[in-house]
Amino acid sequence: MARDYDLMPLSYEYDVLIIGSGAAGLTVALNLPDHLNVAVLSKGQITSGATLWAQGGIAAVQDQQDSIDDHIRDTLNSGAGLCHEDAVRFTVEHGRESIEWLVENGVNFTRDDQARLHLTREGGHSHRRIIHAADATGHAVSSALSARAASRANIALLENRVAVDLITHRKLSLPGNRCVGAYVLNLGDNHVELFRARFVVLATGGASKVYRYTSNPDGASGDGIAMAWRAGCRAVNMEFNQFHPTCLYHPHAKSFLLTEAIRGEGGHLLLPDGSRFMDRFDSRGELAPRDVVARAIDHEMKRLGADCLYLDISHKPADFIRQHFPTIYEKCLSFGIDITREPIPVVPAAHYTCGGIQTDQCARTDVNQLYVVGEAAFTGLHGANRMASNSLLECLVYGRAAAADITRQDADIPSPPPVADWDESKVRDSDEDVVISHNWDELRHFMWDYVGIVRTSKRLQRAKHRVDLLSREIGEFYSNYRVSSDLLELRNLVTVADLIICSALQRRESRGLHYTLDYPGLNHEARDTVLMPTSFHTSAP
Ligand code: FAD
Ligand code: SIN
Repeated sequence: MARDYDLMPLSYEYDVLIIGSGAAGLTVALNLPDHLNVAVLSKGQITSGATLWAQGGIAAVQDQQDSIDDHIRDTLNSGAGLCHEDAVRFTVEHGRESIEWLVENGVNFTRDDQARLHLTREGGHSHRRIIHAADATGHAVSSALSARAASRANIALLENRVAVDLITHRKLSLPGNRCVGAYVLNLGDNHVELFRARFVVLATGGASKVYRYTSNPDGASGDGIAMAWRAGCRAVNMEFNQFHPTCLYHPHAKSFLLTEAIRGEGGHLLLPDGSRFMDRFDSRGELAPRDVVARAIDHEMKRLGADCLYLDISHKPADFIRQHFPTIYEKCLSFGIDITREPIPVVPAAHYTCGGIQTDQCARTDVNQLYVVGEAAFTGLHGANRMASNSLLECLVYGRAAAADITRQDADIPSPPPVADWDESKVRDSDEDVVISHNWDELRHFMWDYVGIVRTSKRLQRAKHRVDLLSREIGEFYSNYRVSSDLLELRNLVTVADLIICSALQRRESRGLHYTLDYPGLNHEARDTVLMPTSFHTSAP
């Protein structure tokens, strides 16, 4: 008797395959012309991913007192000498039109009394320039864009599909250096499908799940970074993992963020005795860039042996708090914390992957017809420390640039060649899934302990030793057993962890988010750490 999956197609062909349905992936899809057949894949629901969780907003110059040059200067300052100025200018100059595009596509931003976009403020920004939808900006963006994409006849939104690996000419032993599709695990029937495409876009988000404590959703396992790396792309500045200073500290909160906009609207950071401390670390106080604030909190927690510090906005009127931060107010209340009356316990947690796959201004990579957009990409915008709310902006600007480039190349790119189906003849079902869950835990623990906010060469070497052992074990597992979502994510996390550790070991200075006790000073020259998949060496000295 035929089982369900025997009736389903195991092979598809599209013009454009977009892996990831966050702000980056949906922006690419919606900016492609109607005659292109587009598939957008998501590991979970279409709205899953970090985009849905974004709180603070999107940075773009709107106010008369603000300027493009100020936004550029603030970004460069936060990036601690490593931002690529051309990428910063390109992004900032396209900010306003990106916001207009979101509004045209139905995103309902918070407005002031005169119906102008309300602007809030976050760390590192010298002006109010954060456009937001109360404290749930990501929800507004994600729901509007996914609804638009669902209404387009040329876009297929395919949920519960986990991309396993990219298919390239090199892997097929064909001439040239082109990406022609991907193998994808369909979680509905647990079968690996073949997607062939003329263009492939990775928009798979970041890798903060590599750390034990994170603000990110479960799927942030760096899949796109690992897949592109395996396909032959360079990975740049992977040592710069951003820790958000203020995640809710509560045994049942898992990973709930408290937006930086709380500090932007006057919130104070407090020690357990109720005193403020940020002025001792930076003249900008609570609105210093994120690396400075996270390190200050980490320092004070270790000095005092405290489990958490506190974020307090209760000195503001209760109505103001409920109006600006309705989601956070409700969420904290569900844990018994009334933020209009008491300080909120907070700890830092891994939040954002500043490094990623090397891309150019059209989001193109080292492999032809393979694009990487959003948090998975390295564009040069963020340098050694991303400024708040520049990430969604990057997804929009580079998503639109990628779509424009694909449209330009459309007529010249032929159909993909024939590709064999996924071969499962030599693997069997795993009888030891405990290995996967154990390795997940082990990896995330040692990354937190040895490759966290404050590093040393010895801790990094320890982590490298462990990641090498895990890589071998997981490689063996992958070769012998049928793939599962957990195994695929673990395989990618280990790859990304390795890239992070190798990059961190190569940086012999403390800059931005990379702080090491062995090299506390700043090198005279700011250089990117570029890892090459072929030789695994960097361009750093
Ligand atoms: P995501 O939105 O993470 O989407 C990734 C997509 O890829 C998902 O659809 C996922 O299912 C899919 N995917 C991943 N792997 C696979 C695979 N193997 N196969 C198939 N599909 C796959 N930035 C700001 O600028 N402003 C903010 O206010 C802000 N607040 C934030 C708050 C929180 C709590 C968090 C976690 C992040 C925040 N950020 C913010 C950062 C920002 O949200 C992310 O950097 C951005 O949303 C990333 O978008 P993306 O499209 O690259 O990836
Ligand atoms: C926040 O709202 O604090 C997150 C903003 C960001 O990560 O850019």
